[in-house]
Amino acid sequence: MDTIVEIRQMSKSFGPTVALDHVDLTAYGGEILGLIGENGSGKSTATSIYAGMQNCDEGEMLFRGEKWNPSSMNDALKKGVGMIVQENGTVPGISAAENIFLGETKEFMSGLFVNRKKMIKDAQDALNRIGADHINAAAMTGSLDFQDRKLIEIARVMTGSPSVLVVDETTTALSQKGRDIIYRIMQEMKEEGKCVIFISHDLDEIMNKCDRLTVLRDGKIIRTFSHDEFEEGAIKAAMIGRELKGSYYRDDYDGTVSKETVLEADNLNLSNQLKDFSFSLHKGEILGIGGLSHCGMHTLGKVLFAAEKAESGTFTVNGHTVRNEAEAMKYNIGYVAKDRDVESLCLEASIKDNIAIAGLDKFAVNNFLILPKREKQYVNEQVESLSIKCHDADQYVSTLSGGNKQKVAFGKWIGRDSEILILDCPTRGVDIGVKQAMYQLMYRMKQEGKSIILISEELAELIGMSDRLIIMKDGHLAKEFARSPQLSEADAIEYMI
Ligand SMILES: Nc1ncnc2c1ncn2[C@@H]1O[C@H](COP(=O)(O)OP(=O)(O)OP(=O)(O)O)[C@@H](O)[C@H]1O
Ligand SMILES: [Mg+2]
Repeated sequence: MDTIVEIRQMSKSFGPTVALDHVDLTAYGGEILGLIGENGSGKSTATSIYAGMQNCDEGEMLFRGEKWNPSSMNDALKKGVGMIVQENGTVPGISAAENIFLGETKEFMSGLFVNRKKMIKDAQDALNRIGADHINAAAMTGSLDFQDRKLIEIARVMTGSPSVLVVDETTTALSQKGRDIIYRIMQEMKEEGKCVIFISHDLDEIMNKCDRLTVLRDGKIIRTFSHDEFEEGAIKAAMIGRELKGSYYRDDYDGTVSKETVLEADNLNLSNQLKDFSFSLHKGEILGIGGLSHCGMHTLGKVLFAAEKAESGTFTVNGHTVRNEAEAMKYNIGYVAKDRDVESLCLEASIKDNIAIAGLDKFAVNNFLILPKREKQYVNEQVESLSIKCHDADQYVSTLSGGNKQKVAFGKWIGRDSEILILDCPTRGVDIGVKQAMYQLMYRMKQEGKSIILISEELAELIGMSDRLIIMKDGHLAKEFARSPQLSEADAIEYMI
């Protein structure tokens, strides 16, 4: 096997945080190398340095045996290394085509002008080639949803025909269609003798797709598993340094949900996203909502928090109409949006400010006079209960690892004791230990009589956690399942497609 990627003794610190501590990593041609580790263990930092996004403090990198020092991501891609980043990798205010050829528009110059027609045609070809022909290359990127923006990024990276592709925690936010596109590209690259580095927190997915697996913890390489050594318990233990005890999801099936309705939606309609959609949510209920990415479930979450307005139909919370987000908060609704960087978080502000803003009424007098001690205590409780990995609560959210950002988005609403929580893909990108803690927290809230709407692309988590599961299709309610140990993913999928 050809050695393609070599990282030797790489170290990197951000102020007091040691992100990488003498990391050695090798990846071969014809393989998919998995990278796994807790949130903040250094996966994105190591791979992004190799892909030209930032520099290391110490260490050496080689590409096919030659010294490797890309000056930028575009430079790395030109020389054969592409990365699909964990966060948003597209610019919203320009077209899909411009994103695909970002920084490379020279190729389309005719005289003083860019030949847009040719650029859009080539971009459309790039999208079609990866199987994303439903995206119009001329469309404004900001008008597209998270999945389609990720597909634009993939199309962009693939125009460089890289011989190394890094896929950083991309799949959990994608529907099956998006995932299949990535899996197919990974498989093709492997067959062509190229190399894929695949980062994911989904152990099943990693064990299924990867040939080898390297585990990072606290910036250090702990162990590399060959395929015949793959064993769930051993991998988890290497990741977190201890055995993970207790069950992952809740294990009760006795169906204790009160008859009391807390939220009632009646014939909601919104273009082709919601069609005569009615349902009710009960006190102490975890209501799961699943379906394909475009089935309308993500829009439903926004509508119920009044962040988007239905064209017709009504919904009430304990008998009150909710007209805007401020009213939603007044009636104790919390909402964790799927697109955390754009909708849930203020990246250029501290962890403290992000968490505190939703809980103002808990530690400020008349929402005005902040009691600093109480604020600090409130924020620290969230930081600790979700083990947000940070130097202190004043650290900017933009400098947190992906999973730790997600914990902030979650903690912001959990902390304020919302009576109704709308969680859209809440466990996206968090490691297995924290995921378990989040499930336990949801269950505890349910037992306290809080109600949760859990919108997710992960059927296993929906089936594992919901008292009732609604499958949506094309904006309609396609099927409702009661909680049952017999309910399988296949049962649900049948109504999704
Ligand atoms: N620009 C930055 N400034 C300060 N700290 C940073 C910066 N970038 C990364 N870090 C820190 O470096 C550590 C490693 O982060 P990294 O993003 O590599 O983790 P990760 O393994 O990818 O985690 P996740 O699974 O959550 O994505 C974290 O503690 C993170 O907060
Ligand atoms: Mg990361």
